[in-house]
Amino acid sequence: MIKVAPSILSADFGKLGDEIKAIEEGGADLVHVDVMDGNFVPNITIGPVVVKSIRPLTEMPFDVHLMVQKPQDYVEDFIKAGADILTVHVESDHSPHETIKQIHDMGKQAGVVLNPGTPFHIAKDFLNEIEMILIMTVNPGFGGQKFMPEVIPKIKEAKDYIDSQGLSIDLEVDGGITSENAGEVASAGGNILVAGSFVYRGNPKETIASLRAACEQ
Ligand code: DX5
Ligand code: ZN
Repeated sequence: MIKVAPSILSADFGKLGDEIKAIEEGGADLVHVDVMDGNFVPNITIGPVVVKSIRPLTEMPFDVHLMVQKPQDYVEDFIKAGADILTVHVESDHSPHETIKQIHDMGKQAGVVLNPGTPFHIAKDFLNEIEMILIMTVNPGFGGQKFMPEVIPKIKEAKDYIDSQGLSIDLEVDGGITSENAGEVASAGGNILVAGSFVYRGNPKETIASLRAACEQ
């Protein structure tokens, strides 16, 4: 069963509470929170104070995507603010093993993220330690970018490897997801779809339903 994780980066921050309610009522499974530090990516977005302020508004898990240079410096603050799942880039300046342990020591779920240009084998070292792998289908930094179909073989490679190892890891795919490509992403093995601009460009009830429908075909 596909899960949908709308990214609030594409929400109207002038009414963020209403926007979170809209995706919850629209059938979303998780809230994808895109954190950017202006260093790892050329954009600055959401800090722990925002996560803390929206935490009481919903029971949905907060899936916090740390696009930051030093995730080890921020894990604790985001968990205290309400993060449930924290995904960290293998390309950041840290030891993923240590950052994953830091997240687990605080009782939360951990994942690693691969940029489009990073080969899947880089993630193999961490697969026994994580609950999720996030495969980017855009270069990180902004919502509303174009889906990169050349990443689909990597999604399939990851899924085949995870299955061959008998691991039960969620495979989240993030970037440019629409009802046009969701079916292909799901068939390749993605089971959690992140979508920001597609979900918020219309009525989330309809856009989330169209993502699910595209995966059932
Ligand atoms: C990009 C973020 C994505 C992005 C998704 O760096 O990690 O989560 O906000 O937005 P869309 O679905 O519009 O690509
Ligand atoms: Zn993201």
